Amino acid sequence: MESRNMTEKEFEEFQKLLERELGEVDSEKEKEEQEITEMLRHEGRAHEAARNTGKSVGELNAGRTAAVNSADRAQKNAEVQAMLRAERESAKAPSQPAMPHGKYEKVTEEPSANEAPKAEELIRKPGKYEKRTGEEEGYFNPELPKESAAERRRRARRNARITRLVIGFAAVFVLSLSVGLIVNSVKSKNNEPVSDQPVMQTDADGNVIQEPEDAEPVCNIINITPMDTSVTVLSGDAVPLQISMTTSGIADQNDITWTSSDPSVAEVTDDGTVMGISAGKCSITIAAKADPEISAQVSCTVRKIEEKDGATYIDGILIINKTFGVDADYAPGDLTEETRAAFDELCSAAAADGLNIYLASGYRSYDLQNTIFNNYTNLYGQDLAETFSARPGHSEHQSGLAIDVNTVTDAFADTPEAKWLEEHCAEYGFIIRYGADKVDITGYKYEPWHIRYVGVDIAKEITELGVSLEEYLGVDSVYADDETQEGTTEPTE
Ligand code: DAL
Ligand code: ZN
Repeated sequence: MESRNMTEKEFEEFQKLLERELGEVDSEKEKEEQEITEMLRHEGRAHEAARNTGKSVGELNAGRTAAVNSADRAQKNAEVQAMLRAERESAKAPSQPAMPHGKYEKVTEEPSANEAPKAEELIRKPGKYEKRTGEEEGYFNPELPKESAAERRRRARRNARITRLVIGFAAVFVLSLSVGLIVNSVKSKNNEPVSDQPVMQTDADGNVIQEPEDAEPVCNIINITPMDTSVTVLSGDAVPLQISMTTSGIADQNDITWTSSDPSVAEVTDDGTVMGISAGKCSITIAAKADPEISAQVSCTVRKIEEKDGATYIDGILIINKTFGVDADYAPGDLTEETRAAFDELCSAAAADGLNIYLASGYRSYDLQNTIFNNYTNLYGQDLAETFSARPGHSEHQSGLAIDVNTVTDAFADTPEAKWLEEHCAEYGFIIRYGADKVDITGYKYEPWHIRYVGVDIAKEITELGVSLEEYLGVDSVYADDETQEGTTEPTE
């Protein structure tokens, strides 16, 4: 960069600028800068004085340095002041030679031992003041600073703003951190577990309630009792099972399980409904979930139902009741041979026991049954008549398999023949069809005189089971048109 020496005016403006600039620095440096400024003034004057007096700057500086270092600083200063006065006198000359142009470079070498310390210190201010080299060696040139005062002020203000921003951001960060710590602390106290330990529950007395990790669920079921030990269901039909439970607390269907031993025969739902799948036998187990050893079993029989020749058969057994009728033209015409033969044996056996059992009413045609039923209906009304007389097409007498013995009155029940019949009829293949305790199932009153041939084996089984034919076959006995059994639609003759 090309430089030139400053004019007096420029020098004074620079001094003012420097003073303003130095006025902005901190107070500690202010004194030093002011001394430098004063030194500059003297140095600048010294050079001009050198030009005016013909002395070298070195001589002047040496003299000044000696004065500074000597005990008689006042006297030397007076000499300098005298020179400066002479200088000012000569400065009144009309023209001042301009300071020569030349190359300037920054000070890089250490000052020589004989250089004035203050001048050297001044010269070594980095970037502000330079010392000319070469032929201008030792010639002080206070070149304009590369960074102006205005730039310095702007930089200072920028730095101040940056500093304020940094301090502001730091304050916000510290404040946020503090608030976060406080919030987390409150959360920890109010909502969050203070450790990984399980939360303990205490009772009313403050005692810790601690449950074992692998505690078995409490079983409130003491025992399970089915309402029936066996169930019979037709294939394709469903029957709900009923049970009772003895418990020590609250227990319900959700606390038990239902299981079929052979789902190909019967399935069972979670609420205990048995569904017949195919003819056969299986077992339904009801057990407590909490303790499977607490259980009960129900034997299950699934029967096949079919219709043949205008009649319904279940597992080969003809069924006629209020639910299942036969066609009007179903007419064997008499007792079946098998039925007749069995009855003859029965009567012979009873006779051997000194009892007189004889046939009162056997096969009845559809029409005959219709007459009888209408007569009873006329006498007692339909509702009462239907408690002991079947509608036409729904009487077992039409099948040739049923027989009324002796007297068809309630008094027959108290006869020895009635008792013998009850005890021995199964031996000849007969059952008491309408038992005293099966009225609600069969749909008829107790008829100790009405026997039905089913064969010896089945008769004995039914008798031993103490069930009705309906129960045995898994059917009910209810007229389809209404359960109130209102009037017959059959014509009367
Ligand atoms: N006494 C029976 C129910 C009948 O009429 O067939
Ligand atoms: Zn009868």
